Amino acid sequence: MRVTWITKDDARAVVEYGTTSGKYPFSQTGTTATYSGKIHDVVVGSLKPSTTYYYRCSSDRSREFSFRTPPSSLPFEFVIVGDLGQTGWTKKTLQHVAAADYDMLLLPGDLSYADTFQPLWDSYGRLVEPLASARPWMVTEGNHEIEKIPLLEPQSFKAYNARWRMPYDAGASPSGSNLYYSFEVAGGAVHVIMLGSYTDYEAGTAQYQWLQGDLARIDRARTSFVVALVHAPWYNSNEAHRGEGDEMRDAMEALLYGARVDAVFAGHVHAYERFKRVYRGMEDPCGPVHVTIGDGGNREGLAEEFVDPQPKASVFREASFGHGRLQVVNATHALWTWHRNDDDQPVVADQAWIASLAANPACRVNHRQLTLEKIKEHQRRAKRKQGH
Ligand SMILES: [Fe+2]
Repeated sequence: MRVTWITKDDARAVVEYGTTSGKYPFSQTGTTATYSGKIHDVVVGSLKPSTTYYYRCSSDRSREFSFRTPPSSLPFEFVIVGDLGQTGWTKKTLQHVAAADYDMLLLPGDLSYADTFQPLWDSYGRLVEPLASARPWMVTEGNHEIEKIPLLEPQSFKAYNARWRMPYDAGASPSGSNLYYSFEVAGGAVHVIMLGSYTDYEAGTAQYQWLQGDLARIDRARTSFVVALVHAPWYNSNEAHRGEGDEMRDAMEALLYGARVDAVFAGHVHAYERFKRVYRGMEDPCGPVHVTIGDGGNREGLAEEFVDPQPKASVFREASFGHGRLQVVNATHALWTWHRNDDDQPVVADQAWIASLAANPACRVNHRQLTLEKIKEHQRRAKRKQGH
């Protein structure tokens, strides 16, 4: 588990921890980076699964935190919510999330909406601390994390990369970039891919090649579910941000389809929308379910206008704040639910069972077929190039 915290003054990058409150028999030392305060970064472990650890940072006696490590087998529960921000709506979303007994939070981009005003990154950290100190928060970047300022700040993602360091250099297929990475949970039963909508994704780029290798390494006999997160949705029938994810979809959709990725979760559009299984714009029983869950509660408000009529592949859409939960129940089934902030906790506004594509014989990957498809795609591209 990686613990990251910020102090105003110099302090040791040390985390002391143990399984009993107030007792810290173990300790681990990490590194400190200076950027808008001192950012301390310590990886603790090894740890037991499904265990609550109590810990303190920089030997600060006044504050004890605790986290629960994820289970090493199924069932496994994710909370997924994008475009969180730090408004009254955000607070309400976090209250609802806090009431869930989840194992890990996934965030498909747009965290603090600091938009280059650095103190807002600090206030965001304070806002999410009660939850982010207690469970792993796995995030990928949105457009609000870019923070490039003409003439003043040429480097993109400077604050994001410094403050929200993800395990991109760990695991079986390190990506080398904090902007995209993957990891496995529940003893390898679920493979999670965090993609970067705001870094190069075309064929031949570093992200594309890494994704290709990452997908190739997945053993679907062992990994029941593969899910991916992006910021800008690849399927979207909201008037907001229409078409913004199309380029990335055209570049990478075939890779995810070939690996039988089960679901793709996006943010960016401040509303909720769930699609059927789709591929290349059409319903396809072996394509991923696409969900937009960008309704965390940011200051820009809701995206209320949807395209009329509702496309056939769009099953449910609504502009309300809320969060989603993905309960991977067993090797064949996962239950996706959307929880509206306006409702009492037990109410589920939308739900769908997602069956593992690895367990569907009709979607078994035919490698010969895929190779032929790849050759055809290559020929089509070459022809298009000639045409230009
Ligand atoms: Fe966004």
